[in-house]
Amino acid sequence: METLGVLLTVPMNQYLEEELDSRYNLFRLWETPPESRLDFLRAHAGSIHALVGDTNVVADAETIDALPRLEIVSTFSVGLDKIDLHKCRERGIRVTNTPDVLTDDVADLAIGLAIAVLRRIPQADRYVRCGSWKAKGNYQLTTKFSGKPVGIIGLGRIGMAVAKRAEAFGCSISYHSRSEKPDTNYKYYSNVLDLAANCQVLIVACSLTPETRHIVNREVMDTLGPKGVLVNIGRGQHVDEPELVKALVEGRLGAAAIDVFEQEPLVPEELFGLDNVVISPHAGSDTLETCKAMADLVLQNLEAHSSSKPLLTPVL
Ligand code: DGY
Repeated sequence: METLGVLLTVPMNQYLEEELDSRYNLFRLWETPPESRLDFLRAHAGSIHALVGDTNVVADAETIDALPRLEIVSTFSVGLDKIDLHKCRERGIRVTNTPDVLTDDVADLAIGLAIAVLRRIPQADRYVRCGSWKAKGNYQLTTKFSGKPVGIIGLGRIGMAVAKRAEAFGCSISYHSRSEKPDTNYKYYSNVLDLAANCQVLIVACSLTPETRHIVNREVMDTLGPKGVLVNIGRGQHVDEPELVKALVEGRLGAAAIDVFEQEPLVPEELFGLDNVVISPHAGSDTLETCKAMADLVLQNLEAHSSSKPLLTPVL
């Protein structure tokens, strides 16, 4: 039987890369300069059956078209926004992702970011490190997280895990999603503006679709207001980034804690100069434990595919 040819679009953690290398015929796309990648794909097209990537995986129409023998796309992420699902469906290409195993970590980070920005943890750390505690005394007073009204955009697996955590902090929970969830008592708003008007900490936890692109626009930020905090652990494209910068600079929005950006790894320079922002590098699922679990899911899905068994986490 032919060994599965696996195209790795981005560097992966050592464990996953070594496992893939030992089991399959591995092609590392990122080692080829961007301008020659299409030629690379065409040159190896006859031997590539699987594509593995992460939140930067670009399984777009052009890549898929260049790979006539592609059978499966497996992404080391729960998000599917970089995969042309329509094209995969058309071609009968199977798609898998890594849901569930990362839910806790992403939800933990959402709450961590909310607390970090309200309690100004990064600033307090810098205050101590640069000797100001000794020189000037205690750090300034900050703002409480416990008990705040929290609004969540998207009440899927991650949104629900965020809600449960925030509830444990005594926060009241409301949410907006495509439709009302029958199995929760959280307050539902069919309109994001109404949600923003009724919460102080707004957490974006939905998946990226054409409908949710820029779901947090200028109007939503203005409604959240100077006391409001925006936390984004979804995708950069959920928030109108230039408007976010303006709202923070002009004080129309109180603060923001952002894990995801529109053009990663680029972060708008203006944010670096702002004191009301906490930034992290799209690190929601980046713990040793979860990355191992995600890697195992990718491997198990590929194994299931090559032995014609049902996929563990099928998307298509
Ligand atoms: C994912 O896996 O899609 C998330 O972005 C992890 O943070």
